[in-house]
Amino acid sequence: MKERILITGYNGELGSKALKELSKKGKSIIALDLNKPKEEINSVIYFRDSITNYELINSIFENYHITEVYHFAALLSQTASQNPKLAHEVNEKASKNLIDCSYTFGIKNNIMTKFFFPSSIAVYGPRKIENASEQDIIKPSTVYGNNKLLIEQYGSKLHEKSLLKNSGLDFRSIRFPGVISYDTIPSGGTTDYAPQMIDCAKKGTIFECKLTPKTKLPFIGIDKTIASIIDIMNFKVIDSKLRVFNVEEANFSIEQLNDFLVGQFPSFKIKFSEDKNFQSVADTWPTSLNCEKAKKSWNFSSNISLEEFLNSIISK
Ligand code: SER
Repeated sequence: MKERILITGYNGELGSKALKELSKKGKSIIALDLNKPKEEINSVIYFRDSITNYELINSIFENYHITEVYHFAALLSQTASQNPKLAHEVNEKASKNLIDCSYTFGIKNNIMTKFFFPSSIAVYGPRKIENASEQDIIKPSTVYGNNKLLIEQYGSKLHEKSLLKNSGLDFRSIRFPGVISYDTIPSGGTTDYAPQMIDCAKKGTIFECKLTPKTKLPFIGIDKTIASIIDIMNFKVIDSKLRVFNVEEANFSIEQLNDFLVGQFPSFKIKFSEDKNFQSVADTWPTSLNCEKAKKSWNFSSNISLEEFLNSIISK
């Protein structure tokens, strides 16, 4: 059987970019999403279905030799709060099933199936902290944060178990801060105000902000996001008990982002109207992340000033 990699949620912000990048590298890909592909890549086998279709997931593992999984399908933070039941089904139950399949078929095929799980700063809380390290206070106060934490722990545990057998699951995860793309404007998340604000500034429309000006959060650009995913998965062996790593490129308050955007697009206007659903979430997430462990364990690097970071985003 030919070796394949499986990507779930390939139509999303991260999934679509990861799919493109991995197919450029000549990987044989199976891609799963609820919706039809926006543009089809010839060599990719597409499935239009849900990750909650366990029969399908199982048959994919039965019929193909899956060596790597990139699991992007998920409900984001605000959507998860509005649909906690669905978030439980998709973000927890279906993710566990995918991990179980990767583990079981890893043992069957006598390999360590590499599994990438995008986690989030949402696992932190309940207090806002600065320079958060992976082991800092982890008591998420949102549905989404709890979903992510549960899967982090589930994957890490099966990873440990696999090491003893020398086969099963090789679990690798990154706790992403807000991701800023230049060509997709996300929704459903708490950090989405940053890409939305940049988009409004470019278009010359007013941005209605649901958070207060002093709200500060960490961010990463989409290029670095995808490069980090490729890097962590390409790293031969991550010799660390810790399986989940922080990354960030910059951190800034809404006020700072606004000042930068007004400097670049003088007519840009922002209107603040606080929404408790958003503010209460942002107030539990760290202002900045400590990325030392990612630098040490799989060579993550980031060396960019806030100005350079924001310039690189608006110039694309
Ligand atoms: N960017 C995500 C959100 O805001 C957090 O991981 O939901």
